[in-house]
Amino acid sequence: MKSPERIKKIETIEEMRKLRRSLQGQIGFVPTMGALHEGHRSLVERARAESDVVIASIFVNPTQFNVASDLDKYPRTLESDLLSLEDAGVDYVFLPRPEEMYADNYRFEVREKEQSQFLCGAHRAGHFEGVLTVVLKLFNLVKPDRAYFGEKDYQQLKLITDMASALFLDVEVVPCPTVRETDGLAMSSRNLRLSAQQRERAPLFYRALKSKGADPAGVKSELETAGFKVDYVEERWGRRFGAAFLGEVRLIDNVEI
Ligand code: PAF
Repeated sequence: MKSPERIKKIETIEEMRKLRRSLQGQIGFVPTMGALHEGHRSLVERARAESDVVIASIFVNPTQFNVASDLDKYPRTLESDLLSLEDAGVDYVFLPRPEEMYADNYRFEVREKEQSQFLCGAHRAGHFEGVLTVVLKLFNLVKPDRAYFGEKDYQQLKLITDMASALFLDVEVVPCPTVRETDGLAMSSRNLRLSAQQRERAPLFYRALKSKGADPAGVKSELETAGFKVDYVEERWGRRFGAAFLGEVRLIDNVEI
């Protein structure tokens, strides 16, 4: 495989701080957990168009996984990720180690007490605490002017936006539309773990969520009939949200209603 030539890897917190002190102009930041796809590419392209310097991070954040096997099985594709970040125009990629990110042994965490309690928060204990804590740490290190997040993880996007406002963070959180496969399936790193048969069935998730006329209970029963194990189908913020398993793979999506 070709190796990345231009992108610079930043592997320690000290290096990240030093780099940040040397940078000028508008900094765009795309935090990721790797296993990159076209959805991530659209975030990077938007950052590239709006910034002087683009920084991405790849960090599979252990504190946001409530099931150990999900963390173990999370796809790791570093070499191809570096190539695709370079190709999309990223200048620096931050690759911190868990020992450094959690040198405090996770004694300190960020907790939101209302909107993290329903939808995914009701089904994944500690998930949003892990997400908010790592994003705050990354923001403190990278100090971006703008940070880019996809609307597929709409609840995450909303909580990060509200955290930035509540804690007076000097960063603009930029929402970016969900990128879909041609059959409608929302792009996700987890799609890599679907078997061929599950992959064929997966687009039904999006089709069911956006079906007009159906209420959440109707969508849930349609999905269950098709073999999905449904965590929830619920409507909030003018959108319909769903989370459902195909085998061991948990898919989430949301549509405007
Ligand atoms: O959406 C993700 O990939 C992760 O939740 C994030 C925002 C990078 C934090 O680990």
